[in-house]
Order: sequence, then structure tokens, then C-alpha cells
Amino acid sequence: MLDVTDLDLHYGQSQILYDISFHADQGQITALMGNNGVGKTSLLKAIAGRHPASGGDVKVDGQPTRSVSAYDAARTGIAYVPQGREVFPMMSVMENLETGFACLPKSEHSIPDYVFDLFPVLRDMQARRGGDLSGGQQQQLAIARALITKPKVLLLDEPTEGIQPNVIDQIGDALQLLRSQGKMAIVLVEQNADFAFGLGDSFVLMEGGRVKRRVAKADYSKQSLIDDLAL
Ligand SMILES: Nc1ncnc2c1ncn2[C@@H]1O[C@H](COP(=O)(O)OP(=O)(O)OP(=O)(O)O)[C@@H](O)[C@H]1O
Ligand SMILES: [Mg+2]
Repeated sequence: MLDVTDLDLHYGQSQILYDISFHADQGQITALMGNNGVGKTSLLKAIAGRHPASGGDVKVDGQPTRSVSAYDAARTGIAYVPQGREVFPMMSVMENLETGFACLPKSEHSIPDYVFDLFPVLRDMQARRGGDLSGGQQQQLAIARALITKPKVLLLDEPTEGIQPNVIDQIGDALQLLRSQGKMAIVLVEQNADFAFGLGDSFVLMEGGRVKRRVAKADYSKQSLIDDLAL
């Protein structure tokens, strides 16, 4: 569903990503892992049209998307849940969700029930301001907002960062349910090895702006993942 080929990215003169190639399959969770500063967020930004790639290709379902805007990326079917969530603090939960309508035709401007079924707390707090939610609730809102766009590819940047364990479990359950529906490819950036190994079907390990290893879960173990991340 998502094909990234030889992607390079620069901030000004400094090159951050080198020849990144990987793919993410429909109905699977691809865990993108690596230590602080290896370029995980930069890679998601390039895929989501938040920062232009300086080389390479991104395809969704065979359709090229490189160097497009965030709006175009969303229209191609890419949804992005940014690191730090970026919920609009002064807008209600409902208004935050409705921002996802921007890339959909008017006839599809309704919140599907399944989004509230995934995260019931959002149904109960529809009128509350985003900024008044807990960190875990904001993370659920950010994921729900991404789902409103009916994505083919869901990109999540460290959804468990700073979140308490019971909400981490709820987010894990939601991602498993989305995977079982088989409609989208999920790319999960994580540093939490337990969470990532529990959910991931395949793993892309990054180091110094490059892909160091790509491996399917069947050929991997949690200890090998921890060892790979420790290098
Ligand atoms: N807007 C920017 N301008 C210049 N350099 C940047 C910018 N954003 C990130 N960088 C640099 O690019 C490199 C990769 O950063 P990035 O945020 O992509 O890493 P990351 O793997 O997501 O890290 P973390 O695990 O801490 O979230 C770092 O050296 C960072 O300092
Ligand atoms: Mg990051």
C-alpha cells in the first residue's frame, strides 16, 4: 500500500535521510524504529507532505505522492498522527475531529460511529476543549482525527510517548482492531520495544538517517529488537 524508494531529505544544507526504502502492506503494522535523532519523524513528515523530500519516491497504492502538500497527501490517502499530538487546544473534541473533513467531499462530512467505538472517551467528551483533555485522551483524539480522513496509510509518530499504561493498552487494542479490518497500512514509529514488538508484523530499523535492517516478525525476536536498538 505504501512504497518508499530511495528517499533523501535535507534541512537546508544538512542531509538527514539517505536512500530510505521500505514498504508497508495493507492490513499490517510496520514498526519503524530507531534511537533519538535517527530521522523517524523526518521520514514521516516527508511521506505526509509536511517537509519536501529531496530525492526518491513515495507511492500509495501505486500512485506517486512525492513533494506534495499535506493536503494532497491527505487526499491521496495518507493520514499522519504527529509526535506530540498537535491537538487544537481551543477547539472542542468535535471541532478537532471535523478538521479531518477538509480533504473529503461534502457528502462524507460525518463522523463514523466506529471512531467513537474505538475511543469511547471521545464520545463522552465531544464538547470539551482539546486543551482540557489528558495527554492520553489527546493522543486518542489525534488518532481519531486521522481516521476521519478514511486513510489508506496511517502514520503514527510515537503514540505511547508520555502516556500512562492503561491508555497505551487502549491504543494498542485500537491499532489491532484497525489492522484486523484490513483496509489500511499502519506505520508505527516507536521507541517502546514491548509495544512495538507486540503489535508489529514487520520492522524497519533506522540508524543515522539510513535503514539498517528490515525484518518480518517471523524472523525476529523481541531480544533481537532490543539488541538492534541498543547499538
Ligand atoms: N526542522 C529542522 N531543521 C533542522 N534540523 C532538524 C529539523 N528537524 C529535525 N532536525 C534534525 O534532524 C535529525 C532527525 O530528527 P528527527 O526528529 O527526524 O528524529 P527522530 O528519529 O524522530 O528523533 P526522536 O526519537 O527524538 O523523535 C536530528 O538531528 C534533528 O536535530
Ligand atoms: Mg521523532
